[in-house]
Amino acid sequence: MKKILVINASARSSESKSRELTEVFIKQWKMINGEADINFRDLTISEVPFVTESWIEAASKKKEQRSEADNSALKISDVYIKELKNADIIVLGSPMYNWSVPAILKAYIDQIVRVNETWKFNHDHPTNPYKGLLEHKTLFLLLARGGTGYGKGESNEHMNFQNTYLELVFQLIGIHNIHTVAIDGVSVDPEKLCQRVETAHKTIKKIITNKVYKNIKPNYESQQ
Ligand SMILES: Cc1cc2nc3c(=O)[nH]c(=O)nc-3n(C[C@H](O)[C@H](O)[C@H](O)COP(=O)(O)O)c2cc1C
Repeated sequence: MKKILVINASARSSESKSRELTEVFIKQWKMINGEADINFRDLTISEVPFVTESWIEAASKKKEQRSEADNSALKISDVYIKELKNADIIVLGSPMYNWSVPAILKAYIDQIVRVNETWKFNHDHPTNPYKGLLEHKTLFLLLARGGTGYGKGESNEHMNFQNTYLELVFQLIGIHNIHTVAIDGVSVDPEKLCQRVETAHKTIKKIITNKVYKNIKPNYESQQ
């Protein structure tokens, strides 16, 4: 049975479109695959700590050289990384805030992008200096944004630091099988919103039905 980790980052609860997409994912997954081993990480209730000086010092030491204080500084980072390592499939629901991701999600990313845990230096390749360590995983980025035109070649593409950033970060830590589904225009044009939401639901269903998550080799693909 595949292990799924569902992460949510929206400050909104019942009105949240990104949370709606993670719920649709779970529902469709269960309908298509039956049983599911699902873990949840809601970043808005667990108070993600910021990286501190003690965190940086502890993370740069070898495991066996760390003191109790070092281990304590890395405690939450260790929990988050363990959850990621345990998962075959990661489902991340996130809004666009100020053309990027919510601060709480950035804080989470700072906790999980950790040298010799999720990536290591690739000294032999100056043009490709990072080697991701989280291999054989699939990531679903289920996103919501108030405006429109953030896709490739569209008028607001240059303002999109949301999916572009998330895709880059997760590729750097070794996850190349990424499927991005976004609902655009949540704050504008309510008539078109219904259609956009429906399309996003269908896209999620299609991706799960096609069982692309079984493709464990790097297979970068984005769907908007
Ligand atoms: C603090 C804040 C900042 C936002 N910034 C942007 C933005 O830069 N661009 C955009 O298109 N929408 C922006 N929005 C709109 C949200 O992306 C939109 O409401 C989205 O649906 C939020 O995700 P959710 O429905 O999962 O809560 C912002 C909303 C909030 C609350």
